[in-house]
Amino acid sequence: IRVDWDAVTAEKGGFDHFMLKEIHEQPKAYRDTMLGRIDESGRKVVLPGLKLSDEKIRSLNSVHVIACGTAYNAGLVGGTAIEQLVRIPVMNDVASEYRYRSPLITPETLVIVVSQSGETADTLAALREAQANGAHVLAITNVVGSSIARDADDVIATLAGPEIAVASTKAYTSQLIAFYLLGLYMAQVRGTQSADDVAHVIAAMHSLPEQVESMLAQADTVKAYAEQIASHEHLFFIGRGLDYSVVQEGSLKLKEISYIHSEAYAAGELKHGTLALIEEGVPVIALATQETVLEKTVSNIKEVKARGADVMAITHEENVPDLLKSVDQALAIPKTLPLLTPALSVVPLQLLAYYAALARGNDVDKPRNLAKSVTVE
Ligand code: G6P
Repeated sequence: IRVDWDAVTAEKGGFDHFMLKEIHEQPKAYRDTMLGRIDESGRKVVLPGLKLSDEKIRSLNSVHVIACGTAYNAGLVGGTAIEQLVRIPVMNDVASEYRYRSPLITPETLVIVVSQSGETADTLAALREAQANGAHVLAITNVVGSSIARDADDVIATLAGPEIAVASTKAYTSQLIAFYLLGLYMAQVRGTQSADDVAHVIAAMHSLPEQVESMLAQADTVKAYAEQIASHEHLFFIGRGLDYSVVQEGSLKLKEISYIHSEAYAAGELKHGTLALIEEGVPVIALATQETVLEKTVSNIKEVKARGADVMAITHEENVPDLLKSVDQALAIPKTLPLLTPALSVVPLQLLAYYAALARGNDVDKPRNLAKSVTVE
């Protein structure tokens, strides 16, 4: 008997690639990142070891969220979560821009830096710029002994475990969980959400891991669609609100490993230029989970359909019958609170990138020209 075995195969735990393994580790990463951060009653967020005092939280007048790549995309969702829960102005920026444009940082600014590795040079430099201007810097990172973790004033560790694939998946979603926890915590201190509302969000967060598992069990539908788009050179993602933030990550993921050119567009902005690029057969992936803007998104879908686009909608089950009147295909995802939906809706987009890269015969875990961690500016 011959058994093919090597250390790398063993580390992949039966999956063909680290990326797929890490996508499947997300339910555990969600649970681990929440562990010990919700009190026994299940109604309150506790962040043991946080140095950011209640007094400081009450004194803040703005929040800056700074990062690169996928961590930046997580910050887009996180920024919206903080803005909605805490009702404080939030500004997002990429680290390499932030530090060179003399941002308005004061001691009343909370600067949140997000980094899976904790070693990204641009993010580290932005952290130092913020500290030099008197801001309290809180790092959301997956590596507790990293340079960013060491230098920051506060750390909320994501407990995603080591991420090997260059394309980040479980780190991104764990960053979302960390942002939800931080947003809820700040809301408790500033009294911007009632105790019942906080408890309601926490209860919904507890259901996320199982909901992700149910989506992973249906990966074949995404695989079939990925094989369909794999021969295309250009495609578009559209969405509004949090859906727009999530498609930015979906588009980045697809570009990183499949090398298909894609653009993520705010659905309402398409008609201001990009619509010119929509022609017969161009795939458009419309993320339509945010009920308050659903109707608007549907009218944007009709705009691209009228120009010949081939549209895949990702939405909730209850919207599928109606949406199928305007789109070519639809994929249903489980329902949670609108604010938490990114933690679910990104999963089919991760799988789409994975299977499209696979169909094109690319090196999924080590895409060309990219490094897992960029320690030069
Ligand atoms: C590199 C990686 C990206 C990552 C970015 C930020 O460019 O290729 O996947 O999102 O760095 O990395 P960080 O470790 O700071 O989250």
